Amino acid sequence: MHHLDTASTIPASTVASLMGQIAGIGRDRLRGGYTRPVYSTAELDLRGWFTEQAAARQLSVEQDGNGALWAWWDLPSGIRADAVATGSHLDSVPGGGAFDGPLGVASALAAVDILRSRNLKPTRPLVLAVFPEEEGSRFGVACLGSRLLTGAIDRDKALNLRDPDGNTFAEIAAHHGLDVRRIGADPALLGQLGAFVELHVEQGLGLGQLQHPVAVGGSILGHGRWKLSMSGQGNHAGTTLMRDRRDPMVAAGRTIAAVQQIARAQDNARATVGRLHPVPGGTNVIASRVDFWLDVRHPDDAVTAAVVQDIHRAAQQIAAEEDCGFEFSQESLSPTVGFDADLSRKLGASLGNAPVLDTGAGHDAGVLAGHVPSAMLFVRNPSGISHSPEEYVEDADAELGALALADALQGLLS
Ligand code: GLV
Ligand code: MN
Ligand code: MN
Ligand code: MN
Repeated sequence: MHHLDTASTIPASTVASLMGQIAGIGRDRLRGGYTRPVYSTAELDLRGWFTEQAAARQLSVEQDGNGALWAWWDLPSGIRADAVATGSHLDSVPGGGAFDGPLGVASALAAVDILRSRNLKPTRPLVLAVFPEEEGSRFGVACLGSRLLTGAIDRDKALNLRDPDGNTFAEIAAHHGLDVRRIGADPALLGQLGAFVELHVEQGLGLGQLQHPVAVGGSILGHGRWKLSMSGQGNHAGTTLMRDRRDPMVAAGRTIAAVQQIARAQDNARATVGRLHPVPGGTNVIASRVDFWLDVRHPDDAVTAAVVQDIHRAAQQIAAEEDCGFEFSQESLSPTVGFDADLSRKLGASLGNAPVLDTGAGHDAGVLAGHVPSAMLFVRNPSGISHSPEEYVEDADAELGALALADALQGLLS
């Protein structure tokens, strides 16, 4: 656990100083950037940091049955109803940037300081949320914490998800002290929430091009993940003639090229294979099997389905041509979501004339949107790059983001 000598004193209130406190946690020397998968030492250290920071602000920190953290600024009455929630996630993709997730958490803490400095006496509870496994980089399903909370994923399916080392989610959750019987939908907790606002680094160039620091979120592209497996004959790279091979790497490579071709034929489609796992994975070994993962997104869910169907057919054909076995399964699917119009309008009004930007990235706010009025704020990322060490936010923009969040929360809490 990461111990901070600031915890017992008045917490620093700038976003930059909060981000600075965690800048050393989970650095990935091989890939660059940060690797902070859920329940790794790095992610646990970040949870410890959040818990200390929240406690230093006199917030009551609780972990829900699915491993999300909730830090409550309660009313004097202690009644938890119609609460305003804000927050994001602390896990990362492999080799991710510093801001995707943590910016929303640090901004939430900074916003509490701003509201306290304004002497705000909230009329509704405020709660800071940290969701686990937002990226799905360990167990394969993005937004796992919010999907479990809302019942968007079947609990048995979730318990049986496996990480790359073969551990089930149930095993890892139990190892980290969760009561496996409590994992799953939590309508009582969800029912305490009246609004959710997630601040997030922008993951494209929209605000950079508009030369504006903060935007209100418009919609999230529908997206899903599929697992493909090609199997052939593992063999020796030196003794096996080319004509005698059944090489699943060739089938996978041809499929990846087809993915690009199929997605390019559809306006606004995005299809990616970013993870590929050859078994056993030796330079002088023809693989016996290759697992690879497909991510497809499009604003029209019917087009997403059609693109995936075309890819499925192409992969089947390629597998047959390469004399390989083929398996195809869906890991997750999220429809295109719009945010709550009324809440988004309030956010926009508190920001002046902020632009509204759609995003191709998934967020817990998109999962919660079906259950709690939800909205998002995006903070400018001048690189336009994300899920990469090159993701970036200027300190001044981060402070403007926290201020925008504080203004929005103040409007909702007053
Ligand atoms: C998560 O960031 C995603 O959009 O994949
Ligand atoms: Mn994120
Ligand atoms: Mn992300
Ligand atoms: Mn995301």
